[in-house]
Amino acid sequence: MIITPKIRGFICTTAHPDGCAKHVAEQIAVVKKRGLMANGPRKVLVIGSSTGYGLSSRIAAAFGANAATVGVFFEKPGEADRCGTAGWYNSAAFEKEAKSAGLYARSFNGDAFSDAVKAEVIAAIKADLGQVDCVIYSLASPRRTHPTTGEVFKSVLKPIGQVYTNKNLNTTTGVVSDISIEPASGDDVAQTVAVMGGEDWAMWIDALLAAGVLADGVQTVSYSYIGPEVTWPIYKNGTIGLAKEDLERTQRELDVRLAPIKGKAWVSVNKALVTQASSAIPVVPLYISLLYKVMKEAGTHEDTIEQMDRLFRDRLYSGQPQPDEAGRIRVDDWEMTPEVQKLVGQRWTEVNTENLGQLADFEGYQSSFLRLFGFGLNGVNYAAEADPSVGVMSI
Ligand SMILES: NC(=O)c1ccc[n+]([C@@H]2O[C@H](COP(=O)([O-])OP(=O)(O)OC[C@H]3O[C@@H](n4cnc5c(N)ncnc54)[C@H](O)[C@@H]3O)[C@@H](O)[C@H]2O)c1
Repeated sequence: MIITPKIRGFICTTAHPDGCAKHVAEQIAVVKKRGLMANGPRKVLVIGSSTGYGLSSRIAAAFGANAATVGVFFEKPGEADRCGTAGWYNSAAFEKEAKSAGLYARSFNGDAFSDAVKAEVIAAIKADLGQVDCVIYSLASPRRTHPTTGEVFKSVLKPIGQVYTNKNLNTTTGVVSDISIEPASGDDVAQTVAVMGGEDWAMWIDALLAAGVLADGVQTVSYSYIGPEVTWPIYKNGTIGLAKEDLERTQRELDVRLAPIKGKAWVSVNKALVTQASSAIPVVPLYISLLYKVMKEAGTHEDTIEQMDRLFRDRLYSGQPQPDEAGRIRVDDWEMTPEVQKLVGQRWTEVNTENLGQLADFEGYQSSFLRLFGFGLNGVNYAAEADPSVGVMSI
């Protein structure tokens, strides 16, 4: 099958298996170039391991520390005549690379919010690894079925209290225009907190603890975002931001529950980057395009793999996590420097459809987006037949 990108708004409905494999290989190469970290994690569970920050976390742990990894994700396998999702192909490629490097890797494709998947993963950890010493929680989902009540929650990206109007980028056409987003109503906040807040992270940690599969000194990390004031109404102070506040509350609770085994829970605030999840947030893609331009010019741009490698190498496993005043790890530190923010802020006021090409890295945004689905990678022959029915070895 010849596979080409089919983009609908902020979604690409096709993915290229060879391109995704190349994307994974490039991430592995970034980590390998930096060498093995001294006291890295040994056995790592990554929940949400197939794309974005979770995939890069899995790669950083495996190839930066020779860690055994267990990955959990919710992806669609390909068939002979139909594409699977990028996360499926990424996971297939990851396992292949891990196996040829002699590293343990096992994956689970299912609903991480369910009790059944938790039980299956715990049984596998018990049987194969005994315990894990690091748990990464990197789920991003629009909905969650509660495991005990069966209620289906839907997360929304809305401001709170009043309509938010700001500039927005149509990432297909490059048109910059104002967008107005209606504020949350009804139980929007509670629904979003139920999906993207800390309850499921705590359920995972409680289940792992109760099963005795968390090693002494375990570290668990969940990811958050803060960003600049211009995006606060839709992010930090919006429905998603309240879910992230809940995550921070959960982190403090988990610290207490993990204390008897000298464990530690963290929230790591990461940089704004193009991922499947972030491309769905209004306003944020314009900010990311402006940010990429400034950070690339300053030589401080990182993608998810550089971010996650730095998180593991320089913070979690360096003995110097450098938490901020609220106890969070900040690998968004380079994004949030005053120089970067001043320039992005200036350009934010000036940017329009006509000068987008000069002020922002729209090309970089679009190519990063396509790369998420395995398109536009060097060395991949996109005119050749590709086999969409690639399997993930351990599934
Ligand atoms: N992208 C950013 O700019 C950014 C910045 C800072 C923090 N974060 C945070 O990082 C985390 C991960 O986001 P991302 O951008 O990497 O997203 P992503 O969409 O690339 O990855 C989401 C992952 O969750 C998995 N998933 C979703 N629903 C699932 C389910 N029900 N069961 C099992 N797996 C499921 C997917 O398969 C995938 O592996 C989120 O908490 C997000 O808020 C993202």
